[in-house]
Amino acid sequence: MPGLLGLDDPLRFNKPVAPCAVVIFGANGDLTKRKLMPALYRLAYERRLPAGFAVIGVSRTPLSDDAFREKMRESVARFLEDSPFDEELWRSFAQGLFYQIGDIGDPALYTALGERLGQIAAARATAGNVLFYLSTSPSQYAPAVEGLGSAGLHRHEGAFRRIIIEKPFGHDQASASELNQRVRKVLDEQSIYRIDHYLGKETVQNILAFRFGNGIFEPLWNRRYVNHVQVTAAESIGVEGRGGYYQEAGALRDMIQNHLLQVMATIAMEPPAEYAAEAVRDERAKLLKSIQRILPEDVPRVAVKGQYGPAHIGGQAVAGFREEPGVDPEAQTDTYAALSLEIDNWRWAGVPFYIRTGKRLPKRVTDIAIEFNRAPLAIFGDETSAQSPNLLVIRIQPEEGISLRFSSKLPGAGMNLRPVMMDFNYGASFGTRTPTAYETLLLDALEGDATLYTRQDMVEASWSVVQPVLEVWSETKFDLPNYAAGSWGPAASDEMLAARGHFWRVP
Ligand code: BG6
Repeated sequence: MPGLLGLDDPLRFNKPVAPCAVVIFGANGDLTKRKLMPALYRLAYERRLPAGFAVIGVSRTPLSDDAFREKMRESVARFLEDSPFDEELWRSFAQGLFYQIGDIGDPALYTALGERLGQIAAARATAGNVLFYLSTSPSQYAPAVEGLGSAGLHRHEGAFRRIIIEKPFGHDQASASELNQRVRKVLDEQSIYRIDHYLGKETVQNILAFRFGNGIFEPLWNRRYVNHVQVTAAESIGVEGRGGYYQEAGALRDMIQNHLLQVMATIAMEPPAEYAAEAVRDERAKLLKSIQRILPEDVPRVAVKGQYGPAHIGGQAVAGFREEPGVDPEAQTDTYAALSLEIDNWRWAGVPFYIRTGKRLPKRVTDIAIEFNRAPLAIFGDETSAQSPNLLVIRIQPEEGISLRFSSKLPGAGMNLRPVMMDFNYGASFGTRTPTAYETLLLDALEGDATLYTRQDMVEASWSVVQPVLEVWSETKFDLPNYAAGSWGPAASDEMLAARGHFWRVP
């Protein structure tokens, strides 16, 4: 039986991958260019891909195989993060790239795709295994799955057929559940991989190692010792040409419903019995279901909506959200959202979990800060103990690491205390490049490992956390914008914490 963290199988990343083809719907989109193709190329570079391998890009734009290869070459060379682009390797990788034009709503696409898959299976020895990746606009997810189902491409005797579905999985609770029903009519749960790329980040995975691979932290990880938890995902960028999408989504849907609630679940879940897909996902799901439901009348007290307005940052004029291309000048969209959540279970009852995210904040940083209760007596004077309770910060990005703040005696006469930091830094400790989330998650799906993918019950539970807020917000007219680009968000967010005697730390 594997150990809790797969310690009997420490090279989880080294499981052999069966020959297969990856079919990307939405091959002309941004995600394919920026993330998927660079990740696949990098996996090839790392020799993680099987000899029998091919990628078929599907999109409506007319392109030849060669033109698609050239486009992908440019994208990979441009978006490959901190790794070299090797022309020779690219040439052999590109031989396995193919392109299929087609419209997701047109049955002819699936007939053509079926034939193409047959030819490629023979030419590239992919053994009939296929991983489909839905990276289209979300309205195409269900039609694509149904199209695959009608053409019989969703299963194949003696081979695997799996499907990765990009976020957002639904626009609200009802649409998430409807999408699930349509997808489940065609595919069984084991073949569905709902991606949340935050779960693939090394540092998010490391939360489990930190908590359950060490003996000293878990005894403190509860309401007796933890005062409150802050999860921050700040971005300095604006909406970067995605104004149209973002205007409909907003920060709560775009970041909190999925990424940050999954991070919170990873921080707060119970230890799984083993490090295996269902055991880990059961615990994450259980935690998400234990988040206290927000009553409509409580929304103004526990949720804050923000939108950035124009500002000058570093001498440069920065447009407000409503001035971004494709955005309605009256838009009520949240480019900042903060929630104050509680968990109804024995471990966490009464401990606030504050979550915030926003665009155009002062810097890009994602971290989790766990503030512990103060020492019961301030024998060195009130001031020191009041100012610096112990704080554990798990830095997800960009400087991945973990820091612990504690008080230390200032050298010299008297007993003056100052907070100091004990730091672990990924880069300095391991000196190796960490795989991107998409590398990890693509490889996992190719291996059939769904541990880091979300399940329908998790998706629905996290929708039900944000749904009451979305509903109240949609019926309320807010006075927006309410924070300047480049600031830490609206004053109401500070007030929400101040009402409980807390304040946002500056990451
Ligand atoms: C995406 C959101 O899911 O996550 C984007 O749609 C956001 O708006 C991005 O910028 C953040 O991801 P990361 O990995 O850069 O933190």
